[in-house]
Amino acid sequence: MSTPDAIRWNEDHLELLDQRILPGTSQYLSYRDPFAVADAIRDMVVRGAPAIGITAAYGMALAAAAQAPQPSVAAWTTALSGARQALADSRPTAVNLFWALQRCDQLIETHGNGGDLPEAMLALAAEIHREDIDINRAIGDHGAALIDNDSLVYTHCNAGALATGGYGTALGVIRSAWKNGSLRGVIAGEPRPWLQGARLTSWELMQDDIPVTLAIEGAAAQLMREHRPSWVIVGADRVAANGDVANKIGTYNLAIIARHHGVKMMVAAPTSTFDRQIDGPQIPIEQRPAEEITHSQGNAVAPEGCAVHNPAFDVTPAELIDAIVTEHGIIYRPDREAVAAHLDAAERS
Ligand code: MRU
Repeated sequence: MSTPDAIRWNEDHLELLDQRILPGTSQYLSYRDPFAVADAIRDMVVRGAPAIGITAAYGMALAAAAQAPQPSVAAWTTALSGARQALADSRPTAVNLFWALQRCDQLIETHGNGGDLPEAMLALAAEIHREDIDINRAIGDHGAALIDNDSLVYTHCNAGALATGGYGTALGVIRSAWKNGSLRGVIAGEPRPWLQGARLTSWELMQDDIPVTLAIEGAAAQLMREHRPSWVIVGADRVAANGDVANKIGTYNLAIIARHHGVKMMVAAPTSTFDRQIDGPQIPIEQRPAEEITHSQGNAVAPEGCAVHNPAFDVTPAELIDAIVTEHGIIYRPDREAVAAHLDAAERS
């Protein structure tokens, strides 16, 4: 059995696997309205940086399909601006969202004077979706080459098939290493409040018969001391120009704990997750609603009026990262120069 697709296009509408109710219930929700797609991203029906980008591109395809033919680039830009803004406002940290919207902008520039923009926008969304799966397989191959025989690895949150077009980034590396026979098992660390480790990562790995042990994130230090995983492998929402990495809250803690215990830290991310314009401290960090941690399944678990800090992501400094793996290869000990050299070479290839 393999993980069901997080994102599907069905003739004239988008279908998203509702990740909020996994693994108990597998249910697809249908979308014909780009504003509802933006809500779905914000409300975590779909999540994970690459999946958010793909979904936004399909949202733009729905927006274009709903318009009468426009006479010019300027007219198309105006007609689609409301939907574009709503999608851009949905989640601020995952840069794949803005990368996908920029690809849609470029398409409007080149196709906006013809009548075929809605078809071209849908074709672009499908291309971004398809490309992402190939990219993840390449990331998987590069990352798996770093994993020694009989390795135990630790992952955090969910950077799997469900967070991407398919196969996954961190879980792509894990899937490829498992196929190579180099993996003994996986520890799935658990971020609150959305429990992606339990609900999504454990589910994905168990469906592929990859041995996985679920642990709360507070167990990480003790686990590393006792069981010595060879790598922590995580995804990313944004890799900054200086090599700092924004990922699910708790990743920074893990990187510190890993360095203390001599465990290496790998970030698996496509080049669409890189942002050459800013450094780590400038990455916008999404703050989520207080109710996500004051309540559990509708029941209050904190005193009423309790002040809350609920950032969805943190930023791990580059010096705590041993390798960033992209579809083009490996950036060892990332820093500004190494990131620039990797991206320059990728652009030339
Ligand atoms: O809040 P989420 O579930 O969207 O956070 C997901 C993560 O932090 C992932 O590690 C990241 O987006 C990479 S997914 C390939």
